[in-house]
Amino acid sequence: MSRPTRLFRKLLLVLSSCMISSIGFTALYLWLIGVTPPPGDPVFKVGGLPLVPLMIAVLASLVFGAFLAWYLSRPLEHLRWGLQRMAEGELGTRVEPLMNGRRDEITDLAHDIDGMAAQLQAMIAARDRLLHDISHELRSPLSRIQAAIGLLRQGSAPADAMVDRVERETEGLDALIDEMLTLHRLTAAAPVARSAVDVVEILHDIAADADFEARAKNRSVRIATPEHFVAQVDGDLVYRAFENVIRNAVKHTAEGSTVDVCARAGADGAQLEVVVSDCGPGVPPDMLEAIFEPFVRIEQHDAGRGAGLGLAIARSAVLAHGGAIGASLADNGGLRIRIALPP
Ligand SMILES: Nc1ncnc2c1ncn2[C@@H]1O[C@H](COP(=O)(O)OP(=O)(O)OP(=O)(O)O)[C@@H](O)[C@H]1O
Ligand SMILES: [Mg+2]
Repeated sequence: MSRPTRLFRKLLLVLSSCMISSIGFTALYLWLIGVTPPPGDPVFKVGGLPLVPLMIAVLASLVFGAFLAWYLSRPLEHLRWGLQRMAEGELGTRVEPLMNGRRDEITDLAHDIDGMAAQLQAMIAARDRLLHDISHELRSPLSRIQAAIGLLRQGSAPADAMVDRVERETEGLDALIDEMLTLHRLTAAAPVARSAVDVVEILHDIAADADFEARAKNRSVRIATPEHFVAQVDGDLVYRAFENVIRNAVKHTAEGSTVDVCARAGADGAQLEVVVSDCGPGVPPDMLEAIFEPFVRIEQHDAGRGAGLGLAIARSAVLAHGGAIGASLADNGGLRIRIALPP
């Protein structure tokens, strides 16, 4: 017998017994204090108690008890059906529409179950997309390695050049796998290893390196920060997050322009806000969120093509520290990334 049917029987038993016993106790009380119906009353009595009204009351109790039990157990049957389908992988199943417009805690529960199913569905879709993207990203360098080996075998290309190519591709693959592992570690919600780190010092280190490289390409990096901002963070992760954002800005900013890294501490030292802005082409407004997804790259950008994981890692790293990250377009059309980090 299914659970809701058992629940129906239990509810029916409890509700009917409550009502019937209340009638019984009232009748007993009337009998004890000697109250009898007025003389000449045509009601049929047993032991001084009116039998027909009592029978009607018992019958009414049974009918109402059954209705109440059905009313409470039926939506549970729907919830159970929905959960069973979800467990079978049918995550598109929704149970709230089956509640027929009732407004109570059971409908709230159905609403929460639907929300959970929608979230699971989105997570599974994201995972599938990621798997597809990873396979695609790994296949391209592998095909190039195979091609280089083929040419090497035929002897139709200089051996040194082919070995160099294979070396470069394997290094690229190694870096890609390292980034994917970092992203996986961050999204697996494992706690980050925190220690007291001066985030401002990290920013200055990255900006100095980036400026050095940028000057070779007729670009520069300018930085303005408070003296110190010591936070309990994983220094490596925070370094990676800021480094990617600043390097992206240097990569995309126009020739002869300057990337601005501007940090300021909140009034009560509650957080450090870092804004990195450049004078590049920016991204289409509808991609401002999407660029934080793994392997999302803007096709039109001809600046050096990366793996497309940097901003995804930066976002996961910032969120793992309880911070926030977002992108917007600057007035000059360039990209502006804002990162807030708690102490
Ligand atoms: N400052 C920027 N200006 C314009 N477009 C940007 C900027 N930063 C990022 N983007 C766009 O967002 C995409 C995703 O950036 P992300 O840092 O995740 O990847 P990537 O730089 O291509 O590769 P990786 O960082 O993994 O080497 C980039 O490919 C680029 O198209
Ligand atoms: Mg990048």
